[in-house]
Amino acid sequence: MMVVDTVAGLMKATEEARSDGRRVGLVPTMGALHPGHLSLLRRSVQDDDTVVATVFVNPLQFAAGEDLASYPRDLRRDLVLADEAGVDYLFVPTCEEMYSQPPLITIGVAALSQRLEGCYRPGHFEGVAMVIAKLFAMVGRCRAYFGEKDYQQLCLVRRLAADLSFPVEVVGCPTVRHPDGLALSSRNVRLSPTERVAAPVIHRALVAGRHAVEAGRCDPAVVSQVMADVMSGEPLADLEYAEAADPGDLRTPDRLAGEVRLLAAARIGAVRLIDNLAAVFGQPRADCEGRSHSQRRPHPEGQLCDGG
Ligand code: PAJ
Repeated sequence: MMVVDTVAGLMKATEEARSDGRRVGLVPTMGALHPGHLSLLRRSVQDDDTVVATVFVNPLQFAAGEDLASYPRDLRRDLVLADEAGVDYLFVPTCEEMYSQPPLITIGVAALSQRLEGCYRPGHFEGVAMVIAKLFAMVGRCRAYFGEKDYQQLCLVRRLAADLSFPVEVVGCPTVRHPDGLALSSRNVRLSPTERVAAPVIHRALVAGRHAVEAGRCDPAVVSQVMADVMSGEPLADLEYAEAADPGDLRTPDRLAGEVRLLAAARIGAVRLIDNLAAVFGQPRADCEGRSHSQRRPHPEGQLCDGG
């Protein structure tokens, strides 16, 4: 694996790979790599000829007062894990390299940034759009892998690639979870032992919401309440939102029908976590009678993976 820390170096490496007829894969991350990230890297190693991963904690996507300073960082470990996963180039730019001057041109994300995460994290999606647009421009034609764990981000990136005509195929990958349902997240390391025990309540709330949708509850407010009720049973959890939305544009419909995405955010102590699940209105999943860990398949290293 080669570590690249300049934009010119990244452009040269990916141009050369393509001119040799190699297909390029891109996996953007903020580091503190865990098996969720590794599942994206492995997918790209399997499907592409040259794999580029990035580790960059993007300041533009953190609002004032958020956890930019305390965001977990462990570059030495990331280098080992990325190398073991089969990454060819790890792009680790400094802030000055990524943003050599304060951007004059910005990307607006109107509707998507006014829902769910956008309501709680002003400027977040504009910051994500900016850094991903820059990475897409630097890497050029490629497949780019993003986790369903950050479902609203995945929707945004799909629209970014389409609306700005980037020659990038965006690939969504299923969420990797601990056996108790907690989605893997770099922020989980900041949970205290008691908070770690409390944190799977988010997944339990989503599973309860999914059961309600599958049972034919068509009023999104009723489904939200089902999820909020589960969350309120955990004193350490402070719910921000739990909603049933259209999986395409993330609007809350008047009545639920067809495919539904359930999305939730909560603070567990000082740590803000998000998660989501798919459900189909009126259709219990064949394999999920009464089991909360349905929709999963085994994953290396003991984690479980959503069925997608
Ligand atoms: P980060 O939180 O490091 O996540 C990098 C990628 O890993 C994202 O696509 C995210 O959805 C995916 N991911 C995280 N946890 C996962 C899990 N448990 N299962 C599967 N995939 C998971 O998301 C970001 O960084 C940033 O916003 C970024 C896209 C890099 C832009 O700065």
